[in-house]
Amino acid sequence: MQDKGIPKEQIYQMLRKYKNNDLTHRSGKILGSMCTCPDPVGVKAYSMFLESNLGDPGLFPGTKALENEVIAMLGEILGKKDVHGHIITGGTEANLMAMRAARNLCNVKDPEIIVPKSAHFSFKKAADMLCLDLKVADLDEDYKMDLASVENLISPNTVSVVGVAGTTELGKIDPISDLSNICLENDIYLHVDAAFGGYSIPFLKDVGYDLPEFDFSLPGVSSITIDPHKMGLAPIPTGGILFRERKFLEVMAIETPYLTEDLQSTVVGTRTGAATAATWALLKYLGRGGYQEVSRKCMEITYILAEGVEKAGFELITHPELNIVAFRSSEISVEEIARKLENKGWAVSLASYPKAIRIIVMPHLKLEHIEAFINDLNHI
Ligand SMILES: Cc1ncc(COP(=O)(O)O)c(C=O)c1O
Repeated sequence: MQDKGIPKEQIYQMLRKYKNNDLTHRSGKILGSMCTCPDPVGVKAYSMFLESNLGDPGLFPGTKALENEVIAMLGEILGKKDVHGHIITGGTEANLMAMRAARNLCNVKDPEIIVPKSAHFSFKKAADMLCLDLKVADLDEDYKMDLASVENLISPNTVSVVGVAGTTELGKIDPISDLSNICLENDIYLHVDAAFGGYSIPFLKDVGYDLPEFDFSLPGVSSITIDPHKMGLAPIPTGGILFRERKFLEVMAIETPYLTEDLQSTVVGTRTGAATAATWALLKYLGRGGYQEVSRKCMEITYILAEGVEKAGFELITHPELNIVAFRSSEISVEEIARKLENKGWAVSLASYPKAIRIIVMPHLKLEHIEAFINDLNHI
């Protein structure tokens, strides 16, 4: 580190050089990420609350009031207005909190959780950190959690079953309604990971898409992960965790002697209020109608992409249920396809099960990007 400070203009210039090495969502080249261009209204709201610390809410009662309103609005989107929860960093932290609540609720010596084979890797982290035994349920022929497999895995040590509404690799929605019944019958905590689908399934249903129930309207659902920084258009890092009952937060509460609140249930201590402000602003600014449009447009482009992929001679892994297209070829490996696409400037990602090229049609992808991509795919 140098002794004397550097003038700020020079600093910004230096930073720009680093920034120029990054890809941008705006370029339309990022095809394999669940993040997107944050909406400018959310960015402005975020920047207004940079000093707000929700880890010490007595100092920031305005921001705390915003968080309460955001949680109620997200709850309303997900079938229950009077839910309890927090705005946190993302899906990983939300899933970690849900698994911690489920574990703490049960006094079991060797706790187990049951997740589908398609579950996000954050459950492996949660299992590791919380000393949970991870039991992996098979998928059915449509890549959804297999119910017979779940029932076989249930044991007296099961503290939670996890279903996914919008799987990371294929965008599939697990049979949450059946899982809700199974969990009610067996008195087991059911967590729904809707990090990706939480901000689109309800809005797509509004505009006529035939998608299954997955939220608090199902009585067995105990908690839901929903990420504003994915389909919610909020700046990163912004995640959400919602619990059906306050007691699920209370079983994780730790005393916080020197702060303005007595107890804290979140994983992190200091917690930005900016993410909450951004989420609040976007929910108000876009409204239900705005989010319906966002999801509908993504689905329209998804279908165009799926058709283009098939016409180019590739095999779709599955009919897209949400805005993800996964495909492979009978002639070249997916690694080879990815390499060829990368040479043409496209940042795609690989699905692991089954092995496929995976494209998430996020709101930053416009028709012209997808048309250019299909054109390149025809020439690899
Ligand atoms: C279904 C699902 N859950 C959880 C996560 C983790 O979210 P984050 O990366 O925000 O921690 C992801 C990320 O893609 C996801 O797709």
